[in-house]
Amino acid sequence: MELAIRYFSRTGNTRKLAFALGEALGIEAKDLNEPLEKADILFLGSAVYGAKLDDAVVSYLRNLDKTSISLIIPFSTTAIVKSSYPLIKKIADEQHLKLSEEHFFCKAQAGFLHKGRPNRHDLEQAKAFALRMTQ
Ligand SMILES: Cc1cc2nc3c(=O)[nH]c(=O)nc-3n(C[C@H](O)[C@H](O)[C@H](O)COP(=O)(O)O)c2cc1C
Repeated sequence: MELAIRYFSRTGNTRKLAFALGEALGIEAKDLNEPLEKADILFLGSAVYGAKLDDAVVSYLRNLDKTSISLIIPFSTTAIVKSSYPLIKKIADEQHLKLSEEHFFCKAQAGFLHKGRPNRHDLEQAKAFALRMTQ
């Protein structure tokens, strides 16, 4: 099974999750600028900024070749809302991309909120999620 991890991260929180997933799966987590030719499962990480996805994530999803990516599994960190999943789903549906119904999410630090997160427990949970989704 070909696995890939791509993430967008402005302040490093989602990157931490991406690296934990990569460690669990034995592959390198890369940012969105790294090309991706083909994947059976693409783990895609993105936070929420001003109640939206960053434009880089939106355009990444819009330009993804749906014939070469079999399934997208989202993961995210946010401070207030419950994950970026609904925002990603909206674009995935528009683009006819196959999106997993399961996703990984944890709260993460933004200013004084959720200090220290993602913490070790969050990262362990992320690793367990990655392993479960690829068994
Ligand atoms: C400019 C900015 C805007 C944000 N807007 C929201 C928001 O609308 N809703 C929310 O839940 N979190 C919001 N957050 C919190 C981030 O989603 C959270 O800190 C996330 O972990 C950042 O991920 P990153 O470190 O991978 O960039 C915002 C953070 C920043 C820096």
